[in-house]
Formats: sequence, C-alpha cells, structure tokens
Amino acid sequence: MSDQQDAGRDQTPDATADEMRDQPTGPDQPARRGLSRRGFFTGAGAGVVAGALAAGGGTAFAMSHGEDDATEGVDFNNSYPFYTGTHQAGIQTEPQRYCVYMTFDLVSATATDLQVLLARWSAAIAQLMQGKPIGAVAPTQPNAVAPDTGEAYNLGPSSLTVTLGLGPGVFDHRFGLADKKPKLLEPLPALPSDQLQKGYTGGDLSLQACADDPQVAYHAIRNLARMGRGTVGTRWTVMGFGRASAGKGQSTPRNLLGFKDGTRNIKEQSDFTDHVWVGDGDVAWMRGGSYQVARKIQMNIEIWDADRVSDQQQVIGRTKNVGAPLSGNAEFDTPNFTAKDAAGDIKIPVTSHIALAAHENNNGVKILRRSYNYTDGISQFGQLDAGLLFIAYMDTPQSFIQLQEKLGSSDLLNEYIGHIGSGIFAIPPAPAQGHYLGEALFG
Ligand code: HEM
Repeated sequence: MSDQQDAGRDQTPDATADEMRDQPTGPDQPARRGLSRRGFFTGAGAGVVAGALAAGGGTAFAMSHGEDDATEGVDFNNSYPFYTGTHQAGIQTEPQRYCVYMTFDLVSATATDLQVLLARWSAAIAQLMQGKPIGAVAPTQPNAVAPDTGEAYNLGPSSLTVTLGLGPGVFDHRFGLADKKPKLLEPLPALPSDQLQKGYTGGDLSLQACADDPQVAYHAIRNLARMGRGTVGTRWTVMGFGRASAGKGQSTPRNLLGFKDGTRNIKEQSDFTDHVWVGDGDVAWMRGGSYQVARKIQMNIEIWDADRVSDQQQVIGRTKNVGAPLSGNAEFDTPNFTAKDAAGDIKIPVTSHIALAAHENNNGVKILRRSYNYTDGISQFGQLDAGLLFIAYMDTPQSFIQLQEKLGSSDLLNEYIGHIGSGIFAIPPAPAQGHYLGEALFG
C-alpha cells in the first residue's frame, strides 16, 4: 500500500474515528463505572446493539477489502539466503503472511546425534529457503521412499524463513554442553496470570517457519520433523496466519481483537542493534544471535466481541479504526502518556496495554514482536478457540520478563486473554557457507 493510500485511509471522512475518540474515555466514565464489560451484552447494552443493527448502523470501517490487509506485494518467487554468517532469517525479515511454529524434545541423549541433526537441518533449511525440495519428490526407483514429501513442489520459495532455537534442555547434563550455555537461558519464571498448559509449554529445540504460502511453511516443518525422528520428538505446535506485526515499510495488520498490531514495533536498525541482537555480554558463540520467547495466548473472543468499542479502546489505549494513541489523531503519533482531556482525566489509561508496555514507561526496554493470529477451531465449550501466537526476540529474556510481570498483573487486556503456552530459546547466529547452525557448540 502506498503512503498516499495509507494517508487517505486515515483521513476518510467517516464519523467512526471521531465518534470513537469522542466517546467517554476517563477511568470513571460510565463504561467502567456502572456496567462491567462482561455484563454489557447481557444487560442494557444488548438492546443498544440490537437496535443499532436493526437500524443498519454500527461502526463499520470506511475502507474496502484489501486496503488494510497484509497481502500487498506478495512475491512467491522471493527467497532469502540462509548462509549469511550473521543473523538468522525470520527475525528482522519483514513478517511473512503465515507461520508454523513447532518445538521438539530431544529423545536421544548423545551430543553426536544432536550435532548431526543440526548439520542435517541446516543443509535442509538452506535448500527449502531457496524453494527447492530436500531430495527427490518422485524417486526414479518406484519402490523407494521419497526423501521430500512433495506438497510444496512448484510453489516457489514464498519468502520462506526457518529460524532455529535451542532451549535450556540442550545445556543440561545430557549433552556435556553446560559450559556453552547462554548466560540468560533459563526456563521462564512463573509470571502473573500464567495459565500454562503442559501440552503447549517447553521444548529443547524450536523451529519457526514463516512464508507467504501456508503450505510452504507447513512443508518445511513437516520435513524437518521427519528428518529428526529418532533424535527429536514433537512437543507442541501452532499454525499462525495473518501476521500480527509489522516490519519496516509494511502496513500495520490487525490481530483477532480487530486492532492494528505492530504500530510501535521495533523497525530501525539501531533498535535491532541495541535491543535484539546479542552483543559481547554473553557467551561468545551467541554474538549476533538473539533470545526467542514464544507464548500461546488464548483470547476470550466472545467476551471481547460483546464489549463496546469505546471500552476496547480504553483497554488497548488506541483507537480501533485508525490505530491512533488516545492522546493523538494519527496511527504514528507518539503517545503522550500524561495528556489529559477536558475533564482532567488521563487520555491513555495507565492500565491500558500500551501504557504498561511502552518503552517510555519501562526504563527504555524494547522487544521485537513477530506474532501471528491462530485458531484451534472450537473449544470443548462450543466457543471459538483462537488467539495470538506471540513470538518476541530480544537481547536478554529479562526484557520479556520485566514487561510481562507488569502486564500480567495490571493489564486491562487480562480480562480477555490467557497465556496458555510458553517457550524460551537461544537463537544462534546464522552459519557462513560450509558451516551449520550451532556448530560452535561442538568445537
Ligand atoms: C493477546 C495478547 C496481546 C495482544 C492482543 C496485543 C495487542 C497489542 C496492540 C493492539 C498494540 C498496539 C499497537 C502496537 O504498537 O503494536 C500492542 C502494543 C504493544 N504490545 Fe501487545 N499485545 C498482546 C500481548 C503482548 C505481550 C505478552 C507483550 C510483552 C510482554 C506485549 C508487548 C507490547 C508492546 C511492547 C507494545 C508497544 C507499546 C508501545 O510502545 O506503544 N504485548 N499490543
């Protein structure tokens, strides 16, 4: 989308944006004071909504399909190099449209098996990222088992990136690698509002495969899992769609809450250097690497959908249509966390998501968010089972811990979400040609 289109969208003369901003915003306004958000749809609010629908009203966004999605500029022939010798792809890379994330347990307890797996995975990932199969799809010998499962044949590289992570278990007593352990790689501590389920938590290795074609991403994970059999077993996986983050130059997509996500993400090179890439302060082999935190965050979709938009905006701290901070007018206006309205109320509530997460209010802490929406269909209670596959990269896991300790205890969003899955991984730098991921561990 061009800047012109983007600007045009935000200036659309619809009543929606102004109405949204003009609704009461102070913490003591009726939406918060009298009627709980949960109670809204079952009480007086239900009639209001029904009336609006009957009248054909509502607050539809004034834009046509395609203007605000993440489909612009998709080139299925685009590929990224694997052997860069610097950072792994899939971190600073502009987020692709789909992601398959999987973690694995090491079932073999020998360092050699781990080493062989990392070498074989590296060779395979390099092939896959070029859009090539990892062996014959249809071997000439008809009785042979095909080395590549074939479903991505001719789909093009589709901007595939596969990013490997090493969990704390790699450095435990099993493999003799304890002296190589990244300084800060520990299982995450218990965090406020954790609702973690064993089936979505942990892992000795992680693979994040992102691509503009979901089948290309799935094919990569499937074939790497297949290669790993005997050395690793699958642990948990999430299939993500509709990137819920923005890289430099990309339009900002929306998450399943319907809000723009990624507006104030890390985009500038200096922020990657200062907040994402590991420098000299860690074990030497991690230089140029990063730390990955993955969280499976379930959304209480039905409850969120029953909430009035003015209240949703208070929860996030931004307008729903434009994505502007409640202290401003345009998406990229810098939030002013002390601005007050005419009644003297703080415009961006102090317990809103952005007020709690912003670097201005966290001693400068920043993380790179590279999340995706997910759905697991319908829950056992008949409700939509969906949420955010939150994936973040940072030069120290302490950044996530500091933010989540605050968000987990005070965020207005907690009424609508639950962290049900979690993993932490050290991301080694990318190998140079002729080398493989994690090679320095075995020197
Ligand atoms: C389902 C869970 C979550 C949802 C729906 C969500 C949604 C959003 C939205 C809509 C924004 C505003 C737009 C933007 O600047 O990107 C935002 C900002 C942000 N979020 Fe989240 N978020 C979630 C979880 C988290 C978690 C777990 C963290 C970190 C522990 C986090 C950290 C941040 C940060 C740092 C910002 C930027 C704040 C700023 O500087 O203005 N978010 N999020």
